Amino acid sequence: EQINKGKYEHYMQKEIHEQPESLTTTMRGRLIRGGSCKAKSVLLGGLKDHLKTIRRSRRIVFIGCGTSYNAALAARPILEELSGIPVTMEIASDLLDRQGPIYREDTAVFVSQSGETADTLQALEYALENGALCVGITNTVGSAIARNTHCGVHINAGCEIGVASTKAYTSQIVVMAMLALAIGDDTISSQARRGAIIDGLFDLPSKVKEVLKLDQEMKDLAKLLIAEQSLLVFGRGYNYATALEGALKVKEVALMHSEGILAGEMKHGPLALVDETLPIVVIATRDACFSKQQSVIQQLHARKGRLIVMCTKGDAASVCVGGSSRIIEVPRVEDCLQPVINIVPLQLLAYHLTVLRGYNVDQPRNLAKSVTTQ
Ligand code: G6P
Repeated sequence: EQINKGKYEHYMQKEIHEQPESLTTTMRGRLIRGGSCKAKSVLLGGLKDHLKTIRRSRRIVFIGCGTSYNAALAARPILEELSGIPVTMEIASDLLDRQGPIYREDTAVFVSQSGETADTLQALEYALENGALCVGITNTVGSAIARNTHCGVHINAGCEIGVASTKAYTSQIVVMAMLALAIGDDTISSQARRGAIIDGLFDLPSKVKEVLKLDQEMKDLAKLLIAEQSLLVFGRGYNYATALEGALKVKEVALMHSEGILAGEMKHGPLALVDETLPIVVIATRDACFSKQQSVIQQLHARKGRLIVMCTKGDAASVCVGGSSRIIEVPRVEDCLQPVINIVPLQLLAYHLTVLRGYNVDQPRNLAKSVTTQ
């Protein structure tokens, strides 16, 4: 596997830019286009003997840390929609701290790029002891999590070197969207929706290529934000995870305080922070939450918030209040896949902020690629 930086200056930069290819590899051989007699569907070989058991489970529990947790959060809504099974989220260390209930009727899905994170691995042992069906989603063939789960899916994103995860995040979301499609595969009522998502998956690499063209725009934005102390990122629905992950990227590599905020909670605290100086990214791309996000923008604007709005291409006029916001326009994809597109400008922003601030982008201080001790 080629692990040099090629034409790029840093691994993180290379890994952000290779997402059209890594996503293609993630999906290779797993999507069936359908035809006259065949429905569009997905094929996840590592799960085929266990899908019936997963469909019968009482609950699906996602377990992970850091970026892997955020990827699972991004996939949660589509998994709930297509499976009809309650999906709960667990940060591995918190599950262990609480010794939270895990049952034999649960499917526990362990998400980990490295497959070696100590907390996730220990949570796996705990779930196995409690009799759950354990599924691994990792980027590392032969890793501890891949070996010790009952079944799983490799994300095949290729080797990731930068400590801050980028291409693994988008591949993880795509694998979990495919997992949702596979679980929901026997439901006639959602066939059209599943077909639209599969079409969306086929188109995704080219849309990611398109959004990567925002590189210079994100560099310009980074120049404006270089001396800031803090950055808030508001999202909701499918893009609550984008807000958390965007903020995590900025925090991890640019060493700037950043917080991802669930926009629905704005009035319960975050609104007190809003003034003319604090930069706020609002994710307001088209989906069922769009009008709610328009109202969030208006409320932030009424408090003189310094807004940077991410919207769907062509929507600038619908999200721009008083002409004072900065706009990031992204291509539209099927709503549940939009987090894959929306994270890319924020990855680029975090990257450029870090380089401009003079920090080590591939090995941020105090952090490790894989945390193998507790
Ligand atoms: C570390 C890395 C993060 C990663 C997290 C979980 O904190 O710096 O980039 O998201 O571990 O790692 P995993 O390998 O389990 O996905």
